[in-house]
This record gives sequence, structure tokens and C-alpha cells, in this order.
Amino acid sequence: MRKIDPSIILAIETTCDETASAVLKNGAEVLSNVVYTQIDIHKQYAGVVPELASRAHAAKVAGVIAAALKQAGNVKPTCIAFANGPGLPGGLVVGAVAARTAASIYKVPLIGVNHLEGHLYACELGESKSQIIPLDFPSISLIVSGGHTELWLVKGYGDYKLLGKTRDDAAGEAFDKVAKLLGLGYPGGPKVSKQAELGDKDAIKFPRPLMPGTFEFSFSGIKTAVSYYLRDNKNISAPDVCAAFEAAVVETLVKKTIDAAKKFKVKNIAVGGGVAANRLLRKMMTQKAKDVGLNARFVLRTLSSDNAVMIARAAYKKINAAVKTKTNRRNAIPIRPDMALKNWNNNDDFLDNA
Ligand code: KG4
Ligand code: ZN
Repeated sequence: MRKIDPSIILAIETTCDETASAVLKNGAEVLSNVVYTQIDIHKQYAGVVPELASRAHAAKVAGVIAAALKQAGNVKPTCIAFANGPGLPGGLVVGAVAARTAASIYKVPLIGVNHLEGHLYACELGESKSQIIPLDFPSISLIVSGGHTELWLVKGYGDYKLLGKTRDDAAGEAFDKVAKLLGLGYPGGPKVSKQAELGDKDAIKFPRPLMPGTFEFSFSGIKTAVSYYLRDNKNISAPDVCAAFEAAVVETLVKKTIDAAKKFKVKNIAVGGGVAANRLLRKMMTQKAKDVGLNARFVLRTLSSDNAVMIARAAYKKINAAVKTKTNRRNAIPIRPDMALKNWNNNDDFLDNA
């Protein structure tokens, strides 16, 4: 049984449609960040096709890891981290095999990381080299992506309470579906957002699904409202539809997040995940938070969508926070497609490979 040395983490991310690998030194210095995006494969279907995603991960993962190591100056990793859930089962299997293989080759420990925690701790990476801006706790975290929309009360590293999540579509998924309805292409978020800049958000009124008394979300109704609007109106303005849709989603996200901060008397808000790249969300959340004396921060736009730096950063914090930073000897770290948020109070996700 050895202690885990987190000084050079090689991380692997394969949960959805990005095959990514990165090397992080001392939890702060990004030695490499390689992302192979499968957008070209999935765009003809306007959404991720799981079987095609698995095949592309299998085809690309070794090359992506090799590129990350090369870009990092062929350093020897002191441990390997990979996202073992939540995500698409096929991609997770590919990532698990690649990570286990790398850990065996280097004879170093393996750490499983929750992909969504990766999105949260990516918020700590600053603009300049090796810059870390630690999260302030307690914090309300909004993790908003193509697969998830969740609000957490975060009391410290690895100390969470899930307040609510989406009952149906994730916010990013709603952007992708609206883009599909409008024929804008995939992924929809950036395309809808760009169109929205040219439109009038007040030209159409789409519902705000606030579900009072809960911190849950529901975005399928807005998407359906957009589809009925497009069905019932012939001469539509795509920019107006996009602006009105984006405003409905963003206002909902902002209101629920700020309500949660007020209810739990928390001063800090952190927003991560692919949709955190959205400019209106960044602007409105920052302003509305400021108006009521709260402080909102965001992941860098360059690290908002799936990448492996975020997995490495989460692994670094998890290793340092582990109750016993010793590894378990077990056969494997299981993949968990529906992985739930859980606190860091045991060593379940550590494996010694020596
Ligand atoms: O975090 P991510 O890369 O993958 C998941 O874990 O799901 O998030 C991808 C999602 C997609 O749905 C994409 O449309 C959305 O993030 N997205 C955006 C923007 N950029 C990406 N949504 C709204 N506005 C954006 N600017
Ligand atoms: Zn993600």
C-alpha cells in the first residue's frame, strides 16, 4: 500500500463526445490539454449517437493520451485519473481500460473522478500559468451542460448536498434541440447564442419553468413551446426565437441559483459545465448576484466544455482530501454511468496498480 503522489497527474476523459487527456503538475500547471472532439461525427444527427461515440473513443484514446504526454515533455505520471461516471457506458468503458492500462504501464495508482466534480473544480483554474483561485466555501454550484443541470450546496471540497436537478432535458440539451428545430447545426449552444445576439428577446414570450418550492429544473417545456411556435408561425425570425429561448433558459438558471444562495445563506456561487460558456448566463448571473451582495464566478470559457484538465484538478483535490491517502487493492474501479454525487469520505475510487 502506497501513498498517492499527485505531483504529475495524467488524466483521461471519455464520458460523452470528447476524447481528452491532460497532464497537470502540482495541481496547477497545465503541462498539456488535448481534446479530440467528435462533433464532426455527431453533427449530421444533431446529437450524440452513443455507439458512434464509443467507437470514436476506442479509435482515438491511445493517440490522444500519447499526444498529451508528448506535449507535456514526456514526463512520467505519478498517478492516473479518469472520469468513471456519469456518462455514456461505452465511452466510460474505453476510458477505464485506457486508464487502467496506463496505470499498469507506469506502475502508478489510479483514481476515479466524477465528471461533474471535474466541471466544478475546473472553476479554480485561472487565466495565467499555474494560477489557482480556490473556491470560496460554502458555495452554491450550478453545473450546467449537455447532459446535466444540477444545483449543489458545497460546504467544502468533497462535501456536497444535491439541491435539485433537471427532471427531463438538461439546459444544454434544450439548446441543442432548439438548434436542431431551427436547422442551425450541432452543438446548438454556441449557434443559438450567436443568433440570439441579433434578436429581440421580448419579441416572443416562452415559459420560465420555475417549479416554485423546489430546486429542480425542467427544460423540455420550453423546447416544446419553441416547436409549437415554429409550427404555428410561418414567417419566423430565427434570431428572435433564439433570443427569447435563451432568455427563458438563462433567467430560469439565474433565478433558481440565486434563490438557493439566499435560502442557504451562502455568499458564493460557482458555475461550471459547457453551458457556462454562454455569455448571457455569465453576464446576467454576475449582475443579479452582485445586486443582492453575492459573488458569482465561472469556469474559464476555454475550460467549460469537456476536457481532462478538469478531471486532473478534481483528482488532485480528491487525493489531498482523502481520509487515508492510501490506495485500495482491488481489481478495478467500476464505471458508473449514472454516478451520483457523493462525499469524499472513503477511498473507494483509489486503486493501487503496483
Ligand atoms: O460540458 P459539455 O461539454 O458536455 C457535457 O458534459 O454535456 O457541455 C456541452 C453542452 C452542449 O449541449 C452545448 O450546446 C452547450 O454545452 N454549450 C452552450 C454554449 N456552449 C456550449 N450552451 C449555451 N451557450 C453556449 N455558448
Ligand atoms: Zn461535461
